Amino acid sequence: MWLITVLISVAIAKQTLAPYLKNLKRPLNIAHRGASGYIPEHTLQAYDVAAYMSADYIEPDLNPTKDFHLVINHDNLLNETSNVELLPQFAYLHTTKVVQTYSGNVTETGWFVEDFTLEQIKQLKAKQRLSFRPATFNYLLDKITIDEALQWAVNQNEERKKNKKPLVGAYIELKNPAYYNSKGFPVQQMLLDTLKKFGVDDLKGASERCPIILQCFELETLQFFSNVTDLPLVYLIDSGAGLPYNMTEYASIVHGVGPNLGFLFNGKFDSTGFVALAHQNDLFVHPWTIRDDVLPKGFTVKEYYLKLLYENVDGIFTEFPDSATAYFNL
Ligand SMILES: *[C@@H]1O[C@H](CO)[C@@H](O)[C@H](O)[C@H]1NC(C)=O
Ligand SMILES: *[C@@H]1O[C@H](CO)[C@@H](O)[C@H](O)[C@H]1NC(C)=O
Ligand SMILES: *[C@@H]1O[C@H](CO)[C@@H](O)[C@H](O)[C@H]1NC(C)=O
Ligand SMILES: *[C@@H]1O[C@H](CO)[C@@H](O)[C@H](O)[C@H]1NC(C)=O
Repeated sequence: MWLITVLISVAIAKQTLAPYLKNLKRPLNIAHRGASGYIPEHTLQAYDVAAYMSADYIEPDLNPTKDFHLVINHDNLLNETSNVELLPQFAYLHTTKVVQTYSGNVTETGWFVEDFTLEQIKQLKAKQRLSFRPATFNYLLDKITIDEALQWAVNQNEERKKNKKPLVGAYIELKNPAYYNSKGFPVQQMLLDTLKKFGVDDLKGASERCPIILQCFELETLQFFSNVTDLPLVYLIDSGAGLPYNMTEYASIVHGVGPNLGFLFNGKFDSTGFVALAHQNDLFVHPWTIRDDVLPKGFTVKEYYLKLLYENVDGIFTEFPDSATAYFNL
């Protein structure tokens, strides 16, 4: 009886968020930084390939430029994913800073998004972050803004609607908003203005044009969005930040949690009950990240997906969305 009540309440919470959780018979396929296992992350081409592989969402990470544009890059360091260090015109922007992150204040050296104008960012070309992945597309593709990504998604969805295909969404993360606020960048308002510009700042507009989910490691920023929009919100949690977790508190602000996969299993890979506990609190669960080329010891890709299906996750962040498409539709 207890189980049935829990299942029904989770089902109702999910119904209200349709079409975001779309096909409730299987978890969401969320393409982490696009199809980043194949194509340099956070390029339109990485998003295109992800959409082609039937990902439900692409997953942009946002950082502001000096002239207040939201550029898509995993964090504020540009050298991991671009050719910045090869371009002498930007040598003067190489510097060291203390960056306030969810896991504490970190000293970083490199080239920072917030020191570049958009025009300068557009002089860079993307590269594959991980040395063991294909370098075929290095130094060919552009860095992009959230405006370009949303325009891509809205255009893509116009076509999909004509062909009665499911829409592709954007699962957007604001990186280190407290840090950027302290440096004078109102990134929450900047994102809200951008969503408004595309008519996707509420559930109704977003479900017609481009489903949006907002995710963040900082609850304060999610509280800001819960005050101004009915879009689904996801609190990201990593070991080291905000522990022990408090599902009751999260459920009062957000609709779902995005835990590091380590929260779901103990050392012997038995369930910790994390997903079930989140579900009891009406929170959906989208853990991160499956990398087919960096699997836990002893697992094949298929076995790992089956393990997650058995845990009853509601979605998964993956860098190889073709595998999620294959294994979630078994
Ligand atoms: C990080 O630095 C900020 C700004 O200097 C400060 O307000 C904050 O307390 C620091 N956080 C930690 C965890 O030390
Ligand atoms: C980028 O810069 C960081 C910080 O200086 C450094 O740790 C890292 O090795 C650099 N990465 C690449 C690919 O150059
Ligand atoms: C959200 O709204 C509440 C109630 O009006 C207000 O107290 C709070 O400061 C707001 N939070 C943010 C982060 O905007
Ligand atoms: C968890 O959060 C709730 C709601 O914010 C609060 O009432 C409760 O005291 C918190 N529990 C713990 C153990 O911190």
